[in-house]
Amino acid sequence: MSATISGFSKLSKSQKIDWIVSHYLSNSETAKQTITQYFNVDSKLQQLHDEFIENTISNYYLPLGIAPNFEINGNVYAIPMAIEESSVVAAASNAAKFWMQRGGFKAEVISTTKVGQVHFMFNGNVKDLEAYFNTIKPKLITDTKVITANMEKRGGGILDIELRNKTKDLNNYYQLHATFETLDAMGANFINSCLEQFAKTFKAEAEKYLNAPIEIVMSILSNYVPDCLVRAQVSCKVEDLTHKGISGKAFAEKFVRAVNIAEIEPYRAVTHNKGIMNGIDAVVLATGNDFRAVEAGIHAYAVKNGKYSSLTHAKIENGIFTFWMEIPLALGTVGGLTGLHPLVKVALDILGKPTAKELMQIVAVAGLAQNFAALRSLTTTGIQEGHMKMHLMNILNQFNASKEEKESIVNYFKTNTVTHSAVVSEIEKLRQ
Ligand code: HMG
Repeated sequence: MSATISGFSKLSKSQKIDWIVSHYLSNSETAKQTITQYFNVDSKLQQLHDEFIENTISNYYLPLGIAPNFEINGNVYAIPMAIEESSVVAAASNAAKFWMQRGGFKAEVISTTKVGQVHFMFNGNVKDLEAYFNTIKPKLITDTKVITANMEKRGGGILDIELRNKTKDLNNYYQLHATFETLDAMGANFINSCLEQFAKTFKAEAEKYLNAPIEIVMSILSNYVPDCLVRAQVSCKVEDLTHKGISGKAFAEKFVRAVNIAEIEPYRAVTHNKGIMNGIDAVVLATGNDFRAVEAGIHAYAVKNGKYSSLTHAKIENGIFTFWMEIPLALGTVGGLTGLHPLVKVALDILGKPTAKELMQIVAVAGLAQNFAALRSLTTTGIQEGHMKMHLMNILNQFNASKEEKESIVNYFKTNTVTHSAVVSEIEKLRQ
């Protein structure tokens, strides 16, 4: 079933489909139908999607859901979430509703600095290199003026460039470590263009000042943005947490213990943070941002003290329960997919066309809410009750349940615990 090909990229879309179907899929007619049934009837819209990436053969759908009732700094948002996992949108909505009745979420952007580096090797005198860097630094900046002019007009641009000596960690290794303000743009293209120009200027002039060559290894932004930070928080009197028959005090104490466990135990911390990322990724994806960059940056931040740990924290002080999180988030609300993907535009409109700073706050809140909902379930009913309640429809769809079967089974599980085997057994009973 395996095959190789040269020139796949040059084939038309239908030739690509024919090739993949004939070489990799046994039931070729059904497979072809499955692939093509996701084409958009509007050929312009389809072409737009085809051109987002390369070698496109179809569209891959994810559901877009809405978690309403998010009060953030006094404004109420309905948050769009693109995600495949059942119970995430319900959990976010549930936490939003819960906290709306208790003062809502507070969020603040702490800093917005982004980073890029030119990595280079130099096997000469460090003092000469330092002197050269100080001489050339103004030219590094002026040589990028064509790239930075518009960003500077808007109030952003290059913040600083430092020479960093990393030779203790790797022989002959140095960096130009640059910091940027990119305002409402995520800034990847802007930063990378500046860095590549720094590298050119830095190398071009080096021969005049240094008696050893500079070898540029690469110039690239960093997705680690510990100085592009946002904080999200909820807080209320402990007794106000009383809910569905569970006392606020007992709940708050157990909740704080659950967070403490994630703070010291990496096995738990990873799952705990995965729950946070359920909320973060879904909003990042819905708003056309780069969830891989966000994931990489946030997990690096979770290990900033040398041990992987919880991103959220909780405490009870003087009868007040506080639950909060600080995370790095480099997001854009202009550029990239934000102006191209029609549903991304709708998602940003739903959020009231936020600035990047506002989006940072919304995304962080979605992560905090998600973690609150998951921990509340974990420390009270257990996760399976709510999760399986939401997953029920997926199991029914796996068994091609009819509308009548679905109605009857959903009704049955209003008062019975959902497990995979219990659902299967109910379907079998109905079908006998
Ligand atoms: P519930 O208390 O049974 O909900 O919670 P309810 O029926 O009383 O409804 C209350 C509100 O919840 C609703 O208000 C909605 O806001 C929301 P309303 O709309 O009626 O005014 N809600 C829903 N929203 C949309 N569709 C629904 C729906 N049902 C309730 N069908 C719930 C049920 C599932 C929300 C709750 O049990 C929960 O939050 N569970 C946690 C689920 C979760 O965290 N899922 C993530 C996947 S599990 C995971 O991957 C992460 C994990 O491993 C992370 C970790 O370990 O930390 C758990």
